[in-house]
Amino acid sequence: MCGIIAAVAQRDVVGWLLAGLARLEYRGYDSAGLAIVDSQGKLQRIRRVGKVQTLTAAVQQAGLQGHCGMAHTRWATHGPLTEVNAHPHLSQSIAVVHNGIIENHQILRGQLQQRGYRFTSATDSEVIAHLVHWEQQQHLAQQAEGGGSTAPLKLRTAVQRVIPQLQGSYGIVVLDSQDPTCLVAVRCGSPLVIGCSETAHCIASDQFALPAVMRQVIFLQEGDLAEITDQQLTLWDHRGQPVVRPWVEAAVEEHLSKGAYQHYMQKELYEQPSAIRRTLAGRLTADRIDLSELGERAEHCLQQAQHVQIVACGTAYHAGLVARYWFEAVAKIPCDVEIASEFRYRQPMVRQNSLLIVLSQSGETADTLAALRLSQSMGYLGSLALCNNAGSTLVRESDFSLITHAGREIGVASTKAFTTQLVLLLLLVARLGRLRGMTLQQEQAVVVALHTLPERMEQLLQLDKAVEALATQLVPDRHMMFVGRGVHYPVAMEGALKLKELAYLPAEAYAAGELKHGPLALIDAQMPVIVLAPCDELSEKLQSNIEELCARGGRLYLLADERLAIMEHPALTWIALPAMEPLMSPILYTVPLQLLAYYIALMKGADIDQPRHLAKSVTVE
Ligand code: F6R
Repeated sequence: MCGIIAAVAQRDVVGWLLAGLARLEYRGYDSAGLAIVDSQGKLQRIRRVGKVQTLTAAVQQAGLQGHCGMAHTRWATHGPLTEVNAHPHLSQSIAVVHNGIIENHQILRGQLQQRGYRFTSATDSEVIAHLVHWEQQQHLAQQAEGGGSTAPLKLRTAVQRVIPQLQGSYGIVVLDSQDPTCLVAVRCGSPLVIGCSETAHCIASDQFALPAVMRQVIFLQEGDLAEITDQQLTLWDHRGQPVVRPWVEAAVEEHLSKGAYQHYMQKELYEQPSAIRRTLAGRLTADRIDLSELGERAEHCLQQAQHVQIVACGTAYHAGLVARYWFEAVAKIPCDVEIASEFRYRQPMVRQNSLLIVLSQSGETADTLAALRLSQSMGYLGSLALCNNAGSTLVRESDFSLITHAGREIGVASTKAFTTQLVLLLLLVARLGRLRGMTLQQEQAVVVALHTLPERMEQLLQLDKAVEALATQLVPDRHMMFVGRGVHYPVAMEGALKLKELAYLPAEAYAAGELKHGPLALIDAQMPVIVLAPCDELSEKLQSNIEELCARGGRLYLLADERLAIMEHPALTWIALPAMEPLMSPILYTVPLQLLAYYIALMKGADIDQPRHLAKSVTVE
């Protein structure tokens, strides 16, 4: 998703801007650009389609330098991936970078064109630059009419006048090359964070884009407007009132090398055992689950809860779907799960004593955040965020939170975030279960299973070569079907999602019992079917589904529990998975599916860490 880094300092800031862009790369983008006020006071801009590296080379070749500038990685929403659509956008001396969407941009564009502005891009963002410029011109014209002096309008005031004209969600930074001593930023739906050192201030959409010297940061709140100079920061809230926000310690940047791995995704996939150990640390004693970190108010909420509503997007939504089986079967509490973009516009009815759980790796997903905000006036008992990013907006705005501690996930396709979400959800299920009649022995069974999970996961990762061999067979295929039953149905959905995003292959997931209601018509030798076959109470039912598929000429690839007696059939290939505790099975069956998508994508030469068209943190709705 789009990324912003901007700086004003007593030193050249080009290095900071380019390094910041490189650190924003993981979010996914398609073009990048930089604008700087040079020593002559001239606004210089360079933009490139493609990688930040290409932009960096161009900026270095041009020898750009300056004390006030901004840079951006663009993830196209309005207008194709072209250089003219890349940010920053200019209007004379004004430069703007923008994350988010301006929904009324067509109307604004029309009005600005009538005023004589000529648009050079197809973006919604360009209107902001022209609007700021227009406000400045209006001010000068009014002053000239009044016969007074023609002092220019402060950039901050011009931006304040533009804000009420914009509809949508945005994080913007604006500079005026006529006054390169300051930058102005506004947060309205898209996160921004400010960092400082003694002689500089920076603004970024992600704290990790800030220069390492900036150890103190301020997260802007909704509606905040900030003006920064090299030495000063001034903030106004959404009503235009001066406001002070707390400085907090910047999160420590992890060492982000790929190590011995070829891709971040591969590294993150292999990190899952240690990520799970971190999720469990302090929350699991020898025989008990301890979520006392939630505090008394949350505990009270859990005690009162008679229903759980989970809201999430993408992979996190799949984790929610798995957890629904657990909440109902283990904790005996009704649970619903919904995609955030549907929930927020559906006018949902709230069940009595319902606890809202928002699930998100980044904690910045626009739809999930909007659903959380909407829920705050809907009568939920409380909101609980399960998130990987402790400093995120989702965590700050929820009543309670639990952090997955998976470590930073750089690969756009979620791996360790998913499995650690499942682990955290299972801890919560067991805690709620205990409050609703689950016995100590049942809790201990969960504890024992969780204690062994990291080693089990290590065992599953040893299937790497077998899955790679399977991928070799599947790589020529044009589409694929994933099939599971019960709690493994959402795991099949996650497997299909991984294949779509990484290998760009159409992949559908079905509950095996649903095949006969339509999808069976798709079955022939050209449609490989990946079947999840654990050893559970549905094994026999699944066996019948497998036979139905074989009978129709299907080509089947089973990930099957070693204890199952798999029928011999020429169209059936299988990889044996070790016996495992049923509660751990959805977590563990995820691993070969992640590996499968990874290897097929690798063999197809796809961009594994930054799949085309996708973004890591989806901050637009
Ligand atoms: C898929 C993937 C996405 C995210 C989704 C929600 O691999 O990563 O589907 O799961 O965009 O993101 P978060 O969890 O950050 O809210």
